[in-house]
Amino acid sequence: MEGELKPMDAEQLREYGHRMVDFVADYYKTIEDHPVLSQVEPGYLRKLLPDSAPDKPESFENVLSDVKTKIIPGVTHWQSPNYFAYFPSNSSTAGFLGEMLSACFNIVGFSWITSPAATELEMIVLDWFAKMLKLPDFFLSTGQGGGVIQGTASEAVLVVLLAARDIFLRKLGKGFLEKLVVYASDQTHSALQKACQIAGIHPENVKALKTDSSTNYGLSPDLLSKEICHDIANGLVPFFACASVGTTSSTAIDPILELANVTKSYNIWLHVDSAYAGSACVCPEYRHHIDGVEEVDSFNMNAHKWFLTNFDCSLLWVKDRNALIQSLSTNPEFLKNKASQSKSVLDYKDWQIPLGRRFRSLKLWLVLRLYGVENLQAYIRNHIELAIHFEELVSQDMRFEIVAPRTFALVCFRLLLPCGFEDRTNDVNGDLLQAVNSTGKIFISHTVLSGTYVMRFAVGAPLTEERHIDAAWKLIQDQASSLLEKL
Ligand SMILES: Cc1ncc(COP(=O)(O)O)c(C=O)c1O
Repeated sequence: MEGELKPMDAEQLREYGHRMVDFVADYYKTIEDHPVLSQVEPGYLRKLLPDSAPDKPESFENVLSDVKTKIIPGVTHWQSPNYFAYFPSNSSTAGFLGEMLSACFNIVGFSWITSPAATELEMIVLDWFAKMLKLPDFFLSTGQGGGVIQGTASEAVLVVLLAARDIFLRKLGKGFLEKLVVYASDQTHSALQKACQIAGIHPENVKALKTDSSTNYGLSPDLLSKEICHDIANGLVPFFACASVGTTSSTAIDPILELANVTKSYNIWLHVDSAYAGSACVCPEYRHHIDGVEEVDSFNMNAHKWFLTNFDCSLLWVKDRNALIQSLSTNPEFLKNKASQSKSVLDYKDWQIPLGRRFRSLKLWLVLRLYGVENLQAYIRNHIELAIHFEELVSQDMRFEIVAPRTFALVCFRLLLPCGFEDRTNDVNGDLLQAVNSTGKIFISHTVLSGTYVMRFAVGAPLTEERHIDAAWKLIQDQASSLLEKL
């Protein structure tokens, strides 16, 4: 790129853009050639790249060549069909095209006026999605509430926590901050703890209520009720509870309706974190897992996990948008405009932490339009079928056990050790995970449930087929055999 800088030259974009799309398509086509979990050592890249930025332009070919030889070795391939770790983070052609469009306009849509289409498309797409999930009407933008795209589930829980906190502090006075109490199960994602840290909730007032296998790691409404009564008797002020539908460790499900019956009597804000499992709830046969959502104050799912929408795209619905706006709005002179002041438009800057925001609804709009709800439901069902297949394979090998019930597309399992070696079970399972992942052939992750080390096999990458599941299981079996031989 020698000569005068022309950063927006349409013909150059066309030429390089086509080549970049070819590069991306070739990457997806050959993705299985790479070790799914990057095998580099910490600091590898500093040794390969210069100390400072180039003074003169370099060629596109050189950059792409460095991507191939220096960057890709340090990439863990989340889109690989052999990726079974954590939860999926789907890319798709539609999501990718949506990202391109978003990059094309590159708007900063904090207020309606900064790009009316960005705000209005977001409202429409969130309304569509709310209908797909059969969420109550109060979550639609036509009512008192509405939906908004946050970057992540962590931001979603933070903004509703702030809204709930401020409702209570407005009523009771700022001095009550140290009395405010938050409730969730001990399986709840650490995003809640971080949100509490940011919101100034006293760490002792963040109650992680104990769960165990007797409720499949779901939160007991009785326990919640007892804890609330106990705290009130001690002069504390319960104000926020977070229920999870599909926990990160084991996809455990908190009973929303029963929990809402408890929280409602104390006017406690009930938020539902369904970051992963929310996608499955667009299928009628899984919708019952969010029964009771009619009684909650906010609901969140990540379209960027298992819904073919490239990261980031976390969908949050609130029952009362004014609660969010009262907590998060600012009105500096330099942002004032007629539309905002007329109150006839939404300004999403008042629903989130940052001011700036991307045109993320394009991605989801393209996913919904180019695939259609029926295909998306089939996509989810296929992954669940593949997870059932993996679960059956595990069950047929007596050396292994399924540790927690499979509800969606995550299988939690572990290797059992022969008599006399039981006390080494956790360590050996850790070794097995390490051995499997270091082959670079598959990537799985782990958790601990009631002190037991558990391997997590999460199906959900868009390219995964039955043959990948079979090969993954054979690899796990083979690695287990060699570990057992060495005991
Ligand atoms: C249940 C649950 N909640 C919250 C999160 C946090 O997600 P995010 O990265 O969008 O903040 C995750 C991430 O996997 C999750 O599984």
